[in-house]
Amino acid sequence: MPIEEKVGKTLAELGVADAQGVEALFAEVRAAMEKEREELIVRAPSTEKERGQLCKALRDRWLARKNGLLTQVHEHWLEPASKELRPVVGKNFNMLRQAAASLETAELLEAVPVGIRKVFADRIEPKDSVSIEKGPLDLTLPGYRRPLGSLHPVTRMQREIEEIFLSLGYWIEGGPEIESVYYNFDALNIPETHPSRDDWDTLYIDATTLLRTHTSPVQIRAMKKYGAPLYIIIPGKCYRHDNPDSSHSPMFHQIEGLAIDRDITFADLKGTLDFFARKLFGEKIRTRFQPSFFPFTEPSGEVAISCTLCDGQGCPVCKESGWVEVMGCGMVHPEVLRNGGIDPARYSGWAFGLGVDRYALMKYGINDIQLLFQSDVRFLEQF
Ligand code: DAH
Repeated sequence: MPIEEKVGKTLAELGVADAQGVEALFAEVRAAMEKEREELIVRAPSTEKERGQLCKALRDRWLARKNGLLTQVHEHWLEPASKELRPVVGKNFNMLRQAAASLETAELLEAVPVGIRKVFADRIEPKDSVSIEKGPLDLTLPGYRRPLGSLHPVTRMQREIEEIFLSLGYWIEGGPEIESVYYNFDALNIPETHPSRDDWDTLYIDATTLLRTHTSPVQIRAMKKYGAPLYIIIPGKCYRHDNPDSSHSPMFHQIEGLAIDRDITFADLKGTLDFFARKLFGEKIRTRFQPSFFPFTEPSGEVAISCTLCDGQGCPVCKESGWVEVMGCGMVHPEVLRNGGIDPARYSGWAFGLGVDRYALMKYGINDIQLLFQSDVRFLEQF
């Protein structure tokens, strides 16, 4: 059965009932995508225009919002997946989405000159980008060897956190970094008088558009898109009008979490975050929940963990308190549920937001956030 037909059926209709079957199915889809991408690279379009058209067709086929293959996989495989299969389907869907990013750059790859296209056709590795200078080529020259890089510490941290929530059946959602004032503030019940609305914190593009100051706006977008129940985490870049110093950066990374279902209570929040903290920082870690305030949650809280360095005894890192604050959280405000099109009389939810960069600093013992964003290979290659 061709891929486009398979993505139109549900897992049940395809007779896929276990994790192994899911892995195999996704492997097949990824292979098909890679093959189509490779074919495009080694193909010989007569003009640049034709090349552009082919690239666009490939992107539309896979990535089109309305009926692209990825959208269909989401609709037919992920959304209706059973509780047992959801984690593995979610994980594989995210891998597929990451792999699909290579389609975005297909056009940027240099066309391989026709004469040597055949020679290269056998050699192109799916993940390699090919950059061949146009014009006469000396094929006897040794090739360029690209030094292997490593994952950025923030990426590693993000993936580690993602893994924990994927294993609990959450899936990963994204949203725009250029956001509307409505989603970033109003829909989250942040009143016009809230200090974070001030120019000082927020980088405005115009009166109604800004660079998102947190990942929370995606809560509303996801509620509107999927309705309830909903179990997602939202990693992404955020921006604030902050001067760079050792603990601030105008661009930083957050992960937002959101769980909405029938009868969700504060106990779900505590249980999940306690489990998360122990998975990430070690079984010995203790968590502390303290009341706090966020306009989009009621009640709101701050979570702290026992200091990983001194085990709660008190040291300079935890400012002698024994505790390190690691996230904000709370029960989703009924107004926020309403703004997301969800009836607070039927559903309740909890949410959290954390700063990934700070986690990376803690985990790798780095004392200056700026080091993460200076792209100094001597620093980065240590990870
Ligand atoms: N958006 C908040 C911030 O950037 C973090 C946050 C706190 C997110 C509590 C939440 C939450 O979802 O429930 O400071």
